[in-house]
Amino acid sequence: MASAMRDREAADTILGAGERDFGLFLLLEHVASRLAASGLEVQAEAAERVAQMPEADAYVIGSGVYGQHWMKQAVALVKRNEGALSTRPVWLFSVGPIGQWAKSTPVEAREVAGFKRAFGPIDHRVFAGAFDRGTMEGSDLSFLERQIGRRFIPEGDYRDWPAVDAWTDTIARRLVGG
Ligand SMILES: Cc1cc2nc3c(=O)[nH]c(=O)nc-3n(C[C@H](O)[C@H](O)[C@H](O)COP(=O)(O)O)c2cc1C
Repeated sequence: MASAMRDREAADTILGAGERDFGLFLLLEHVASRLAASGLEVQAEAAERVAQMPEADAYVIGSGVYGQHWMKQAVALVKRNEGALSTRPVWLFSVGPIGQWAKSTPVEAREVAGFKRAFGPIDHRVFAGAFDRGTMEGSDLSFLERQIGRRFIPEGDYRDWPAVDAWTDTIARRLVGG
């Protein structure tokens, strides 16, 4: 598929809500560059900067998870573009669990069941996240979320790069090989 799409602006588009960025945007860029290395044309964007999904053959959309919800910018992006998403293969991922939660069975953000019903993504994967309190101070987290962040959320980078790479490679195989 990648070679057939060379004259297009972007064969595959990858998007996410990166503004808060404790762990997601780096992960998004990592997935994007790995897909690009396998021969796909990839565009990585922050969800809040995209009104309408650019034309693409497949979409990969991720969000950080806060209080068991996807970030509102990512939810809004998906909702505005459900039409396009239901006509293309879509992979979703969430970045969230840290500390002891990174090792337990992942809980899906509340929106994900609705996304599955609305446009049937090929997969939704939960990846461990990252958190540091210094970044939190300059972020748009609410007063309550900051309290939660200070008291209950352990600091550290729990992102599992081999797991992210393995998942990305399944996408690449499907798109390049298919
Ligand atoms: C206030 C707060 C609430 C959080 N709630 C959840 C949660 O419900 N589930 C989860 O898996 N992770 C939760 N996390 C961890 C974040 O999802 C993690 O830091 C992730 O890397 C954030 O991604 P980002 O880069 O988009 O900010 C929470 C973090 C904070 C600070």
